[in-house]
Amino acid sequence: MTMNRPKQKNKEAKTPAAVDMTCRIKDLVFKNPVTVASGTFGTKDEYTSCVDYEKLGAVITKTITVKPRRGNPMPRICETPSGMLNAIGLQNKGLEDFIENKIPYFAGIKTPLIVNIAGEEENDFEILVKALHAHKKVVKALEINLSCPNVEAGGVSGMKKKEKIEKIIKTVRGETDLPIVAKLSPELGDVIEIAGEVLRAGADGLSLINTLKGLAVNIRTRQPRIANVTGGLSGPAIRPVALRYVYEVKKNYQVPVIASGGILTADDAMEFIIVGADLIALGTANFVNPTATMDVLRGIETFCRNQGIMSLSQIRGTFHVPPRQSCWQ
Ligand SMILES: Cc1cc2nc3c(=O)[nH]c(=O)nc-3n(C[C@H](O)[C@H](O)[C@H](O)COP(=O)(O)O)c2cc1C
Repeated sequence: MTMNRPKQKNKEAKTPAAVDMTCRIKDLVFKNPVTVASGTFGTKDEYTSCVDYEKLGAVITKTITVKPRRGNPMPRICETPSGMLNAIGLQNKGLEDFIENKIPYFAGIKTPLIVNIAGEEENDFEILVKALHAHKKVVKALEINLSCPNVEAGGVSGMKKKEKIEKIIKTVRGETDLPIVAKLSPELGDVIEIAGEVLRAGADGLSLINTLKGLAVNIRTRQPRIANVTGGLSGPAIRPVALRYVYEVKKNYQVPVIASGGILTADDAMEFIIVGADLIALGTANFVNPTATMDVLRGIETFCRNQGIMSLSQIRGTFHVPPRQSCWQ
């Protein structure tokens, strides 16, 4: 007898379908676009109490150099209107420590690891890439930091020669088939032109943008607020600049872009996705709200669902400028 039996509720039908958030750089597929900007997420497990690393689309490491670096003298960060200045100076324990202590840790995490690297000497990139390529099981891509404003050797000032940038990318390309992404900043010069050069030299994608050089003054001591005098400006203050570059680069080249620059919320992330960003990296946001990545991830999904968008590819790069109205009409 089935006549009076109450109708079974279809539980599956009630679970909303997941939004497809996958994105890719070359053959590397990410389950979602949310990642962390280099240098803003500790060096290993510092954020594990607030962030489930396996929910992130990728983890990007702080810049690794061949030799350990102590970084610049303190104070080296300060808050500024809508952002912060930092002059950490690529402090890190070097390649050997990374291989010994960090790689085994990330081997246990099912999220692609993108290792950010910088060179101080001529053949540093070759040493770094050869060593990291040997750990391909864990290291899934390389981000080449061509744009640190706070160091002498290997920093943005030395990169202003286009032959140098080209040589670095060609060296890295010659040593690995891992996806390589070049990280640029407007401090380097014409970002669109440099983007073309690094892509021709063999980069698979771009990371836009690194910080912009800035200054903050302590009016009582009349001294700089950070010991390095100038530092890299990050946070919402640079978001419109970052958006402009992601938009212009995507208009000129059909390549994957990791966007960073003042992304704090899901709405901020959507702005970048709409202008064409593939991955979106949160940097300064992690200092303001340690759970920002998780909040943004949830927020993107909710935004899409509310808009009836079932795949991020439906909205990525859909930015359009309405036709101009003449002021006489
Ligand atoms: C404290 C701090 C340290 C950073 N260290 C690095 C670094 O080691 N390598 C790098 O490529 N970028 C570094 N950056 C730049 C960020 O990765 C990011 O590109 C930039 O801050 C813009 O994003 P945001 O506005 O979301 O912070 C650092 C930024 C900050 C604030």
